Order: sequence, then structure tokens, then C-alpha cells
Amino acid sequence: MKGLTEEQKKKVEDLLSQMTLEEKIGQMNQESPSIVGGFDVPFEELIEMMTDGRISKEEFGQIMSNATQDFHEEDIKKGLVGSLMVQDPVKVNELQKIAVEESRLGIPLIFGLDVIHGFRSVYPIAIAEAGTFDTDLMERTARMAAKESRAAGVAWHFAPMLDVARDARWGRVSEGPGEDPCLGSQFARAKIRGLQNDHSATENYVAACLKHYVGYGACESGRDYNTVSMAMHVFYNNYLKPFQAAVDEGAQTVMAAFNDLNGVPCTVNRFLLRDILKDSMGFPGFVVSDANAIRECVVHGIAEDHMDAGVQAVNAGMDMDMGTEIYVKNLKTAVENGTVSMDVIDEAVRRILSVKMWLGLFDHPYVTEEAMKRYETLPKEHTDLAREAAEKSIVLLKNEDGLLPLKKDTKIALVGALADNREEIIGAWAMSWQEKDCVTILEGMKSTFENVKYFPCGGPEGDIDMNDILKAEDYGDVIVAVMGELVSMSGEASSRSNITLPGRQKELIEMLMHTGKPVILVLMNGRPLALEWENNYVPVIVEAWHLGIQMGNAVARVLSGDVNPEGRLSSSFPAVTGQCPVYYNHPNTGRPASRSKFTSRYLDAPFDSLYPFGYGLSYTTYTYSDLTVKEEGDALDISVKVTNAGDRDGRETVQFYMQDVAASLVRPVKELKGFEKVSLAAGETKEIRFSLKKADMGFYDNERNYHLEDGLFRIYAGGSSRDCLMQEIRLSF
Ligand code: NOJ
Repeated sequence: MKGLTEEQKKKVEDLLSQMTLEEKIGQMNQESPSIVGGFDVPFEELIEMMTDGRISKEEFGQIMSNATQDFHEEDIKKGLVGSLMVQDPVKVNELQKIAVEESRLGIPLIFGLDVIHGFRSVYPIAIAEAGTFDTDLMERTARMAAKESRAAGVAWHFAPMLDVARDARWGRVSEGPGEDPCLGSQFARAKIRGLQNDHSATENYVAACLKHYVGYGACESGRDYNTVSMAMHVFYNNYLKPFQAAVDEGAQTVMAAFNDLNGVPCTVNRFLLRDILKDSMGFPGFVVSDANAIRECVVHGIAEDHMDAGVQAVNAGMDMDMGTEIYVKNLKTAVENGTVSMDVIDEAVRRILSVKMWLGLFDHPYVTEEAMKRYETLPKEHTDLAREAAEKSIVLLKNEDGLLPLKKDTKIALVGALADNREEIIGAWAMSWQEKDCVTILEGMKSTFENVKYFPCGGPEGDIDMNDILKAEDYGDVIVAVMGELVSMSGEASSRSNITLPGRQKELIEMLMHTGKPVILVLMNGRPLALEWENNYVPVIVEAWHLGIQMGNAVARVLSGDVNPEGRLSSSFPAVTGQCPVYYNHPNTGRPASRSKFTSRYLDAPFDSLYPFGYGLSYTTYTYSDLTVKEEGDALDISVKVTNAGDRDGRETVQFYMQDVAASLVRPVKELKGFEKVSLAAGETKEIRFSLKKADMGFYDNERNYHLEDGLFRIYAGGSSRDCLMQEIRLSF
């Protein structure tokens, strides 16, 4: 990873020495365009009114069309803004010109945005893409997103989201790489490489922002923004790991999480921001708050007023304020009265200027005319990548009697309102996509199969159309039913207390099953769903998530067998909601679940997940044999033979797990240590080797001491976290 040259470092110091206190604090201020005019209530209230139905979307649109946006031009001119959230390149240039040509020191703005799973080309949501276990793909989609956004002037992505998440009720499970810290760390590294490492031109890279630092994924009962309490060894061994990996890979910025961790909101958490992130991990970049989070410290009850919140935040190591103006309004007084030192301010500004310098913004502050036009039509290379990512993310959960793949001339009755909707394939947090680039499932199916007819029948909202069901019954040899969640049902502020299929969709599936025609259930959703009933009764289930602009083609190509499914689950699926949180790498109890009464189980629900982490079927089958584990110096040499025992070529995800059988702290029953994607032709066998460094077999205690403890270990290799071969080995470190 490229760092700053000595000359660039000197330029940062020179600038710093010329800046007034106001200008320094200005760099620490991030603004979004504010909406002004036309309405009598604050903008936030207006959004609430639309969300709770007091006004319709159309009415909201009308009100907004009479309003204007304030882009803070005057403040930019005075050097009181360091960053803005804007995505229109023309506006970017306009505002940048003010910063560069009209402010006293000409320091460029950094434009940031939530580019979570693609910019113009939208890829699968992260929970889905992580399930490809394909780090090369993860890197390529990030690189493409960086290029597309930088061509619009957005040089800073509020991504990757790295929250380990084990409770599927939390809507934000969709945004991150799932429940496992090892997969999460690989995802983190791949994303940082993709976003940040191509320095062949300034337009090819952006600054990443690791979020949400940290522990947000463990919000109590999966309710968004809720409190987080956990033992520190759980924190260090799980929730912190992907962040550590991304910092090691060179991440430029970090966003603090909304939640409190063991009583202290991350926004003002000196231990997390200074001691761990900046001092211990050596993170060189800057930390930004989450939106309005500094103000929310008053509501949390950790600060008395805005001044108090701002002082606590900056002293804790929070370098940039997102959206509250608390820094610009209070920090000057705080420095003058001595509650914040000049060193603290200088440190924050030095970090911010260094990232701007690293991004090349001082030399290339503007978007060129050519770049603005570059993606007016998406190049084939971009749509191909979107399709590849979508195809590889699809997880075949069940395929009774080998009903899939379908022949191209099968008469297919395609059912479900979601099948013919452009917005619903995109997934939470996507802003810059265009309708013309989206391929719906209906379109994908029609261009892949010869005989497809569409009967909406119903969807996540609204009623069931019985007439449509009768027509579907008459027409199809099979029914492909596209069911799931609306995009708005996952993502931020979208927790659900019941994660079965929403609305009347289960009833609808029951009615479709009564037709006697085979039903193929294709799921579009942003979180693991509780699918006990569907798994019991529906013969085929395909998990297709929200896959982005190429979703329709990807689904059709998997259903037809043009593509052999290879996606895996990055998060366990519960049978019923009451099992949440359910995750494969749980610690053992003294009474593991069994049939007997006094064990750790439910009376009315299974203990195990319905579909475990790492699980996913294919149109071929893979068998494992000959697992061997040998000590080779400072590593374990693990090898296993994997055979494609079916008659189709495929790609298998070979997974390696371990268990520390007895240790000074209770350890997980299994923990992923590595994986490899392997292409296997029909009938082919390959020996797959994995070198597990002994140094990576330890764990952190509550004081963050790392332990490597002698004793018995179990090593597993297999095609999912549940289905593995096992060998024991005794080790002395
Ligand atoms: C709130 C979200 O928590 C965060 O993920 C996002 O980046 C910011 N808002 C900015 O939109």
C-alpha cells in the first residue's frame, strides 16, 4: 500500500502551520446538503411523516420539489467545511472550485458517500457476496466501484461494513460479511485492496471507511441502535478481528458506531478510538462519527449538552463530525477554555489532510468532463462483473429429486410481485444505480427460457390474487415463485421481530403447492429468514438475496443450469426466529443440547440452525476423504481429498475449521481458519492443502493477552461448518 512521500508529509505540516484554529476545526466538519424552504416542519420530521404514513411518497416528492438545497457554499469559502456528502459530479466540481479557489488556503474537500455494494453497477449485498468465499471477486467489485464513484467525484466510500452479525433480526446483517470473523477478515482485506490499491491513476482508487467501529452487530436482541454488552474476550476474538485485518491492509478511515459498548458510546470511547485503534493497532488515518452521533451522546445520557459531547468526542479521538456542526460551533471555545488541547486538534487535522493528500486531491481536485461521461452507458465489462458476482452469490438451499436445473423449454409459471420489480433487486444502500441497467427476474427468465408466463399472484405486501393462481396452475409445468422481503425490510433501521416470510407469502406458497405443480421457491431477501415450514414442504429453495443490477440474468442462468450454483451461507439460517442469535461458532455449555431434558435447548424449537454457515448445494456432489494433519515447523500442514462425484463441473468451497478442545477460556465448538475455492471437473479428485500457522491457533483473553495453549486440537475439513471430516492432534507451542 502506497503511503505519503516525505514531500507530501511536509506539505501537510506546512499547511497545518498556516491554519487558523477556525480553519482547523473546519476540516473536522462534514456537512450534507441541507434542505431549506417550503415546509413548516423540520426536514427530519418530514421524513418521519412519510415513513409513518402521515403523508404519501408523492406528497413528500411534491414538497421536496418546492424546496432548495443548501450546499454550505459560504462556509466552504470561509474554510469551515472539510467534507461533504454529494454524488453529482457537476455539483462536486462547483463546490470544489469554491474550496480550492476561494478559500484562503485552497484545501480541497473530500466527498464521501455510502457506496456499499457498488456505485453505478450495483453488486450483491455484502452478506451475499461474502458467501461466494471468493476474495478475488470481492476485490474486483470493490475496484470497479472505486472507479465508477471516483469518476463522479466521490473519493471516499463509507465501506466496507465489517460488523460481525449473528442475530438475523437486525436489518443491517444485509450490509456486512456475516457471522464469522475469519471470513469477515478476508472480506475486509479484499475490499481494502480493491478500493485503495490501484494507484495507476488518481481516478482508480478511493479511501475506504471501516464501519461501524465497533460491536454494532451485537446490538441487543437485534434491534437497531440498541445497547451492546459483551465479555471482552468475545469482543477481541470476534467483533474486532475484521477491523484489525482491514487496518493491517492499510485502510485510510474508520467510522465509529452508534452503539455503546459496555456502557460507553463508541463515539466518545477513548479506549476504543485511542487506546485500541490508534495506539495499539497503529491506525494512521482519521475517524469520522456516524451521522448525528455526537449529538446523540446527549440522548445516550453520556453528555450534558452539545459542548460536552463535542469535547468528549474529540478528546476520545473522533477526528471528524458527521452532520451535527457541534465541532464548528463549540471546539474553538473548548480550546480557548482549555478543555481540548491544541495538540488534539492538530492531530485530527493532520490525519484528515494526510488522507486528502494520499487521495491526490490537492493535485487532482476536479472531475474531468471525460470522466463524467465515461459511464453514461455501462461498459460490458461492468455488467459482466455484476452478473458474475450475482451468479456466484446464489445459494441452493434445497433441491428435492433434482428438480433443478430446468430444461429451457419447460413451461414456467413465474409468480410473485418481486419478480417484476427493478427497485427490489438492488438491496439496501444503493444510490447511484439507473433503472435502464437493471434486469428483473421476469426479464432474465424470458431471455433464458422459451416458455415463461408471468402471474404476479402477490408479494411481501398486499393481497393474494386467486385468479392469478388458477392461471399459473393452468399454464405451468412448474411454478417458480419469487418471494421474500422488500428492500426496505433490511438495512438501517429495519429490524424485524419475526423473520419468517412477511405478509401473506406463506399462504400464497401453500396455495401454489395445492395446485400439485412442483414449486421452486426463489428467495429475494436481505437477511437469513426462518424457513422451517418452507424447508419441510417446498421441494426446491434457492436463496437469491438482493443481487443487484444483473439479478434477473443470474437467477435464470442458475435455474437453467447454465451456471452451477456455488454460493454458500455467510450466516446461519434459523429454523424459527426464537433461535436468534444462532451461529455455528458458539461456545459450548456444560450441557450441550440433546434429547434429554436438562440440556441447553428449547422445548419448542431445534437447537441447531436450519442451514448452517458455509452451507450450499450444487448440481453436482462433492465427497471428502483422507484428511491428514501434520506438524511442519511453525504450521500445521492439512490436506484433504475432494472429489466431484457427480456429472457436472463445479466449484466447491473447501472449508477448514479447528477447535481448541480444552483451554483457559471456553472456546467455540468450531472456528473457521481458512478456505479455498476449487474448480473440479465431473469425476475429478484434487488434494487440497492448507497451511495453518500455529501462531494463528490462539485466542485473546479479557485483557487482550494472546494465548497459545498446549493441548488437544480438532481439525476439520469439509463443505460446510456442519459437514466435515475431523482429525485430532496434540500440540505443544
Ligand atoms: C448512518 C449509517 O449508520 C452509516 O452506515 C452511514 O454511512 C451514515 N449514516 C452516512 O450515510
